[in-house]
Amino acid sequence: MTPKTFKIKSFGCQMNVYDGERMAELLGAQGMTAAAETADADLVVLNTCHIREKAAEKAYSDVGRLRREDGSKPLVALAGCVAQAEGAEAKRRSSLIDIVVGPQAYHRLPEMVAQASRGGRPVDTDMPAISKFDAFPARRRANPSAFLTVQEGCDKFCTYCVVPYTRGAEISRPWGDIVAEAQVLVDAGAREIVLLGQNVNAWSDGNRGLAELIRHLATIDGLERLRYTTSHPADMTDALIAAHGEVEKLMPYLHLPVQSGSNRILKAMNRSHTADTYLATLGKMRTARPDIALSGDFIVGFPGETEADFEATLQIVDEVRYASAYTFKYSPRPGTPAANMEDQIPVAIMEERLQRLNERINTHRLAFNRSTVGIETQVLIERPGKLPGQMIGRSPWLQSVHVETDARPGDIVDVTLVAAGPNSMTGAARARAAA
Ligand code: SAH
Ligand code: SF4
Ligand code: F3S
Repeated sequence: MTPKTFKIKSFGCQMNVYDGERMAELLGAQGMTAAAETADADLVVLNTCHIREKAAEKAYSDVGRLRREDGSKPLVALAGCVAQAEGAEAKRRSSLIDIVVGPQAYHRLPEMVAQASRGGRPVDTDMPAISKFDAFPARRRANPSAFLTVQEGCDKFCTYCVVPYTRGAEISRPWGDIVAEAQVLVDAGAREIVLLGQNVNAWSDGNRGLAELIRHLATIDGLERLRYTTSHPADMTDALIAAHGEVEKLMPYLHLPVQSGSNRILKAMNRSHTADTYLATLGKMRTARPDIALSGDFIVGFPGETEADFEATLQIVDEVRYASAYTFKYSPRPGTPAANMEDQIPVAIMEERLQRLNERINTHRLAFNRSTVGIETQVLIERPGKLPGQMIGRSPWLQSVHVETDARPGDIVDVTLVAAGPNSMTGAARARAAA
């Protein structure tokens, strides 16, 4: 039976969210409609993440739950990074899976759905030279803050990470395609665009880099804000840093993962930076844009991490005074070099370090939020809050701001930040001066 309705469930990073939106548009163009619930869908796409812990097991148990009480099941497509990593093995491990489609093969999804509705079980985890992006239909709707993938894949091979294997080699989308998609997103209602890539600052087209792209996108009328994520310290060019000081639409926020504060661990991780080169980059950034909010990723308990190594991580956290950060326990990933390293750290130690790190980061997060109280700024409204008349939006520093206003999603309102919490701010709307 040809499916009429579909549900896509995305896990993992923003890239998967973006891919999920594009797959939805692709299926929509085939005449299918989005179902509100998994239970109402003829086709369920699980858009999976493989970055940490038992990701494959979780995906299979999610698949198992798709069997319905009457014994029936929807067509099931396993997509995303687990699909890429497992390939045809996925069909052997679960008879419920009809389609296995890797992140670089989404353009083939409609054809694979047709095959599966005829009883086939297609698998495609190729990484073809032709780009899935060319096959996606034009975009019609956009959130106030919209994602736009400009770069995919990674050549860095950090020793703990699966991404180079699941997303493939680094590729950059062409300049013209990105500019065209940005314009379409703005026409469809986006006020902010977040440029995405596994190493977004490695984006290039000929001799133009991300800085030039940002400067050009900033000229689009109606586009008010630009962000990009995730960056690698090694690709943080002076041109990009300079853009932060000069391009008004480029928001004062940078997510720049350091992973560890210990040079010994950074070397074992195959990160091509040291604590000092990282701090030097941030120093330049703060000179260019003094109010920049900094964020990062941290792994605790990488094989061989001593108490002294971990304390170096706490120290860099104190030096940078992060406005936010993501912290992870090291998780051995099959096929990565670190998984076979000696001196794997016991879980209890990892948990204890994670807790200490989180406490330290929370202190800085709250301090950062408090330092912004009293500032007159602007908030991009994204969605209604829990209380009547309350809306939630983002400050330039990516803080979540609660504000009482009759503004709608997509509006940018003048706000004074009046109170700080650990995870959000309260803002008071200011009346606009009459024009
Ligand atoms: N390309 C980005 C993001 C990669 S995945 C970057 O290089 O920063 C997001 C984060 O997950 C990483 O920054 C890292 O902190 C974490 N991560 C990746 N592999 C991991 C693993 N095996 N165990 C624990 N955390 C991991
Ligand atoms: Fe993974 Fe490292 Fe590439 Fe980031 S830079 S995606 S952590 S291999
Ligand atoms: Fe996960 Fe793949 Fe993104 S492993 S973090 S969904 S690139």
